[in-house]
Amino acid sequence: MLMGLFDRSIKVSDSSVLDGRVDWHCHILPGVDDGFKKLDDSLAALLRYEQVGFKEVWLTPHIMEDIPNRTSALKERFVELGLAYKGQLRLHLASENMMDALFEQRLEDGDLLPLKDKRLLVETSYFNPPYGMDDILKRIKSKGFFPLLAHPERYMYMNNKRYEELKGMDIEFQLNITALIGAYGPEVKSKAEHLLQAGMYEYSGTDLHRLSSLEHLLDAHLKKKLIKLIP
Ligand SMILES: [Fe+2]
Repeated sequence: MLMGLFDRSIKVSDSSVLDGRVDWHCHILPGVDDGFKKLDDSLAALLRYEQVGFKEVWLTPHIMEDIPNRTSALKERFVELGLAYKGQLRLHLASENMMDALFEQRLEDGDLLPLKDKRLLVETSYFNPPYGMDDILKRIKSKGFFPLLAHPERYMYMNNKRYEELKGMDIEFQLNITALIGAYGPEVKSKAEHLLQAGMYEYSGTDLHRLSSLEHLLDAHLKKKLIKLIP
């Protein structure tokens, strides 16, 4: 019986899930949000990323009213990190944008840090949608960007009907891989499994705030059938 169990799951560090992977969402840029604080810790994390197979990392610090990072300051910090980092990973700068009033202003000003191909990583509160969420998503598109919703599995107010609606509006979804190992609790885990099996995710990321979360991921077991589906 145990044999069967192990047959269907594999330790993440023994799998090839991270080989050649792009992390589309992390908070490794140091000293700019609730993620990494010190440059040395960021460099250690990037070294570890390389060891476990990643090839490319998008650094996506928060921009929100509570953490009103300026685009220019983030670019400067990114240059500093790039000068200190001597490894092989390809590093890029983008941002994770809370859809609040500050975001509306930055969108109006065109003062944004998108991911590849004008994808804009956006998030909401875990508890409530922003007022007029669909209008905000439409405005993003009207400015020529493509909204990529960060960790949809984490929004407690979203149900299957809402996920379907967003997909109907051509909104792309980004999975937090650690949701699959229960890092945010059983409900988020089951939502992530459902969305993954329904083929609703286009991108994935770690949303890493500290290195220990990556080590937890590496030590955890994942179902092989789910690993195959991670975009
Ligand atoms: Fe994040």
